[in-house]
Amino acid sequence: MTDTFRELYGREAEKRGIAPGRVNLIGEHTDYNGGFVLPTVIPQRTVVELATRADDLVQVSSTNVGRPVAAYRLAAEARSGTWLDYVQGITRVLGDARHAIRGADLRIDSSVPLGSGLSSSAALEIALLRAFRAAFALAIDDVPLAKLGQRAENEFVGAPCGIMDQMACSLAEDGVALFLDTRTLEYDRVLLPAGADLVVVNSGVSHSVAGADYATRRRECEQAASILGVRQLRDVPLAGLDRTVSGLPDTLRRRVRHVATEDQRVLDAVAAMRSGDLALLGDLFYASHASMRNDYQVSIAEIDLLVDLAREDPRVYGARLTGGGFGGSIVALAEKGTGRRVGERLATEYHARTGHSATVLVPPQGRDQGPRFGSEA
Ligand code: GLA
Repeated sequence: MTDTFRELYGREAEKRGIAPGRVNLIGEHTDYNGGFVLPTVIPQRTVVELATRADDLVQVSSTNVGRPVAAYRLAAEARSGTWLDYVQGITRVLGDARHAIRGADLRIDSSVPLGSGLSSSAALEIALLRAFRAAFALAIDDVPLAKLGQRAENEFVGAPCGIMDQMACSLAEDGVALFLDTRTLEYDRVLLPAGADLVVVNSGVSHSVAGADYATRRRECEQAASILGVRQLRDVPLAGLDRTVSGLPDTLRRRVRHVATEDQRVLDAVAAMRSGDLALLGDLFYASHASMRNDYQVSIAEIDLLVDLAREDPRVYGARLTGGGFGGSIVALAEKGTGRRVGERLATEYHARTGHSATVLVPPQGRDQGPRFGSEA
């Protein structure tokens, strides 16, 4: 049993900030290259309860790590290399941006699995920001809120992530995908296809954006852009791609090929969703996975196995690794009404072959069809 807010702090919470996890449908490793992404929300969410204090003390308790309450003072945030850095990062960026906050008692409760490639970090950042915004009546719109979350992660936590996750957690809604141009931050909402179920299966192999591989990929892209004389890889045209990349070292050639083709796949996926072409959308998922595996080299054997098992299932239109990679989850598109059963079959066969326990996150248990997401704020 986890302690309630009253049990922890001897009083009731005043405000709550809630944010969902996200699953990216397509457009992977394009966000820090100025390209396109297409995430949507998952039903799992992070809830931050908050009661304001008169002093500058921040006390934090998380049900995910048990009872201990950690504490620090505003303006004295210091990186600890633990989950507390996300909280400290948020109060630091709010302070730096001259938003008038005071101390607070916080209780965090999250059902977004950590290390699953489903943005547990951004869900926490956005839930915290929403709780502080509500408690101190801060004038921050949803897009600047997402940018503050990214800043906390880039500058304080030290993870060089792009803007996709924070934008998704801050702006995405039930049943629609957020088609986002990460350079301009212009976005459009695209309805999820009515004739299909989304399936999200966590491989149980952990992923971290703070890991060295993510930063390496990012550096490789910047290096390739500089050699090609473009601002970002988003500016590399698809036409004549083979010739454009022919002079690059093999690794950089692969990275550019992934980013340029993935950007086009996002545009094609949006068109396929709008016209209800599920077969095409599924093919784009598989093509995206192949590109991430072969050119971007961010997949692992367990994730490839899940995608291959999905491919054997006639109810599946397409499947791919979602999120940063090196573990995490797959997203698949299955015939309407079959999503939960498809996911459970994947998890069972995966367990038999690898011994790892996979978890079906979408559609959530008890729901045969998926998903009717809820994204209350
Ligand atoms: C992580 C990062 C995002 C994005 C994805 C890959 O989730 O936080 O910014 O780069 O990886 O698409």
